Amino acid sequence: MRKILVTGGAGFIGSNFVRYALERWPDVEVVVFDKLTYAGNLANLSDVDDNPRYRFVQADIAEEAPVREAMADCDAVINFAAETHVDRSILFPREFVFTDVVGTFTLLEAARDLGIARFVQVSTDEVYGSVEEGAFEEGAPLNPSSPYSASKAGGDLLALAYAKTFGVPLLVARSSNNYGPYQYPEKLIPLFVTNALDDQPLPLYGDGRQVRDWLYVEDNCAALALLLEAGEVGEVYNVGGDCELENVDVTRRILRLMGKPESLIQYVADRPAHDRRYALQCERIRALGWEPATPFDEGLAKTVAWYVEREDWWRPLKDPAFQEYYRQQYGER
Ligand code: NAD
Ligand code: TYD
Repeated sequence: MRKILVTGGAGFIGSNFVRYALERWPDVEVVVFDKLTYAGNLANLSDVDDNPRYRFVQADIAEEAPVREAMADCDAVINFAAETHVDRSILFPREFVFTDVVGTFTLLEAARDLGIARFVQVSTDEVYGSVEEGAFEEGAPLNPSSPYSASKAGGDLLALAYAKTFGVPLLVARSSNNYGPYQYPEKLIPLFVTNALDDQPLPLYGDGRQVRDWLYVEDNCAALALLLEAGEVGEVYNVGGDCELENVDVTRRILRLMGKPESLIQYVADRPAHDRRYALQCERIRALGWEPATPFDEGLAKTVAWYVEREDWWRPLKDPAFQEYYRQQYGER
């Protein structure tokens, strides 16, 4: 691998991956390709800005010309670019189809024409839908519940079809819920940490007993790097944190770490079609030698400490546009 195109590299997982990749592969160049939507932020990459092996391109993955131009001198692609927030997909589904389906398609077409040597499609456990008991393996049928997960499933299926039909050397990684530094403060953990810092309510959906499997972002970056190096093309790999927790349990741990009262918890109306539980079987990636390395309490403590220290990073994100979204999302609940 000589030069990787990292789409969505200015977002949460993408920017953590860029930092990780520049360290793991001292000879590899990284081109970040990102539209800089509300979730994209060059501040996430400020510490690699002066690295001569890093370059940034601002463009949309659904636009053919800039995609081809940026991909032309790369030999590997990892696609993080997506609209990613389930609640926003319920309010504004259109962008999800454009980016997560049409955008992925545009990248696949370019990868096929340009003979890209390796392509990782970054996906999510949400494509399998909810599971009450047991855990999904990679061959499980897709049963997405939200416009977000349905769009991601569309991207996955197109990717796998491009591997079969055109021999594009790609693989799909489906990870569970990531958490860690640089996560936009609309998602559960950063929203609750930043609200608690301001002594604002933490809006817990429904009975708060939905289960998510939590994965520290650096552990996911290690898994994705390993898949770029050694994953088998045409395959799907589940990447889970082996850490299932109810939302209310996560919330209480956050409050305990921060020394804030549980009275900040506010139960609000549930999300429509809210998946009850996600769970993955991950033997396939474990067989390559990967396992999640960060215990949840350690990862959560690091994450909370990061948000406490980096108010300069998150405070500007809770801007008037965010407040407007917050009113729309939570105002009537
Ligand atoms: P994020 O929302 O923080 O970042 C997404 C990035 O993609 C942003 O920088 C944004 O500007 C960029 N982007 C959006 N639309 C674009 C477009 N049309 N063209 C170019 N760039 C565009 O997301 P994240 O949490 O870092 O997630 C990254 C990937 O991982 C996504 O594909 C997501 O589905 C997947 N994933 C995320 C999680 C999680 O817990 N966050 C879990 C499993 C899978
Ligand atoms: P989220 O971070 O949106 O990730 P996802 O929906 O992709 O799993 O939400 C994680 C869990 O937390 C999910 O069960 C929904 C719940 N949740 C709340 O209870 N309140 C909130 O304000 C948010 C954002 C999420």
